[in-house]
Amino acid sequence: MRELDRRTEGSLIREARKAAKEAYSPFSKVKVGAAILTSDGRIFSGCNVENSSYGLTICAERTAAVKAVSAGAKSFEAIAVVSSLEGWTYPCGACRQFLSEFAHEMIVIVAGPKGRVGRHLLADLLPKAFSLEK
Ligand code: THU
Repeated sequence: MRELDRRTEGSLIREARKAAKEAYSPFSKVKVGAAILTSDGRIFSGCNVENSSYGLTICAERTAAVKAVSAGAKSFEAIAVVSSLEGWTYPCGACRQFLSEFAHEMIVIVAGPKGRVGRHLLADLLPKAFSLEK
């Protein structure tokens, strides 16, 4: 599988950890952080933002993706996801579909609190993603 060099991967995980500290999650108390590396080499991070109307909650991955796209970066290389939960936190189904809009082949890095790192391709986590294109 295609992999990021370890230095870039480390920076991405660090940015995701920083973003998790900003989580607004008074309801679940779970802090999630994500950092996206765009194809032009920029990093955009985000946290989960919950709402009293629970269903309006936005995941960290989508926060990061929306920040990237609105800054003109519409092609993604990789995303790192961390959280305050034990073990690895994987992007939810909605986020997988949302990310696949911008790069079905992107690398998804999951990092646990103890530093263990998992690496996947988004295409493997979301086979047969919905697309309007053939
Ligand atoms: N959450 C994320 O930010 N990303 C995910 O991939 C899964 C879940 C957030 C949403 C909510 O604020 C909290 O984690 C608990 O579900």
